[in-house]
Amino acid sequence: MENNRTLSLSILSGKGGVGKTNIALNLAFGLHQLAQNTLLVDCDLGLANLDVMLGIAPEGSLHDVLNRDVRVEDILFNLGGRGLDLIPAASGVTDLLDFDEDQQDQVVRRLDGILKRYNFLILDIGAGISRTVQAFACMTHHRVVVITPEPTSLTDGYALIKVLSTQKKIQDFHIVVNMVASEKEANLGFERIRAASEKFLGISPNFLGYVHHDKVVSESVRKQKPFFQVGPKSVAARDIMNIAGRLADLRNASKDTIASSVPLRLGG
Ligand SMILES: Nc1ncnc2c1ncn2[C@@H]1O[C@H](COP(=O)(O)OP(=O)(O)OP(=O)(O)O)[C@@H](O)[C@H]1O
Ligand SMILES: [Mg+2]
Repeated sequence: MENNRTLSLSILSGKGGVGKTNIALNLAFGLHQLAQNTLLVDCDLGLANLDVMLGIAPEGSLHDVLNRDVRVEDILFNLGGRGLDLIPAASGVTDLLDFDEDQQDQVVRRLDGILKRYNFLILDIGAGISRTVQAFACMTHHRVVVITPEPTSLTDGYALIKVLSTQKKIQDFHIVVNMVASEKEANLGFERIRAASEKFLGISPNFLGYVHHDKVVSESVRKQKPFFQVGPKSVAARDIMNIAGRLADLRNASKDTIASSVPLRLGG
C-alpha cells in the first residue's frame, strides 16, 4: 500500500551506549505489529551496528547507494513480513563521516522513491553532537532523544537538545528513558531534562515513554535477534509497544502536516 504520509524519526543520544540501536530496531518491529510499514536506516556511518545486532551479512549498504551506482531497492533488507525493511550502513568506512551537504542531498533524493511505501522511517544515529548527527537530526519530522537515569546520560542528552535548539532552531524533542528500574525512575529522569530544557532553553520536550532494564535485551544482543522476537512477552517488549502505540497516535494526529511536507529534508 502506498501513501504519502511517512512520518520520519531520528533516534539520538548525547551519550553513547544508552540503547538507541536496540530501541530503533525493536520499535520498527513494534510499529510493524501495529500494521505500520516501517523502514529502518542505519545512519551510524562508519560504526554500523544493526547488521551485527541482527546477525546478517547484507550485500549492500547506504554507503554503496551514495558512492556506487547501486539502486536503493537492491540493498533493502527485509526484516520479516511485508513492509518491514532495513537499509544497513557500512562499518569501518570513513569517507562519509563528514556528512556534507552533497551527501545529505543524495540521501534525500535516493530514498525519495521508496519512502511512500512506508508509514514510518526510523533513522538510527550515532551518539554525540557531531556535524553528521546534527545534519541527520535536522532531516526528520521528529527527534527521539534516548537517555538513561544516569546523571552523565541526562547531562549529555540535555547538551544535545541545547545544541540542536540553539544552533539549528529545533524545538520539538521526544524523550525515551531507557534502562529504568521503575516508572518512578523514568518520570524522574524525564522531569530533570524537562525542567532544564524549560528553564534554560524555553522548550518543553515530550515524554514518549520508557523501557525497563531487562536482561532479555543483552540476551537478544548475544543471540543477534531483536528482543521483540526473543521475548515477545518481556517487560522490554511491552514497553516498546507502549511507545509504538504513542507514535502511531502521533502519526494519526499529524497526518495533514505530514502530507504537506517531505519525510526527509535537507539538514541544517
Ligand atoms: N533496556 C535495556 N535493558 C538492559 N540492557 C540494555 C537495555 N537497552 C540497552 N541495553 C544494553 O546496552 C547495550 C548498548 O545498547 P545499544 O547498542 O542499543 O546502544 P546505542 O545507544 O545504540 O550505542 P551507540 O551509542 O554505541 O550506538 C546493549 O548491548 C544492551 O546490552
Ligand atoms: Mg547504536
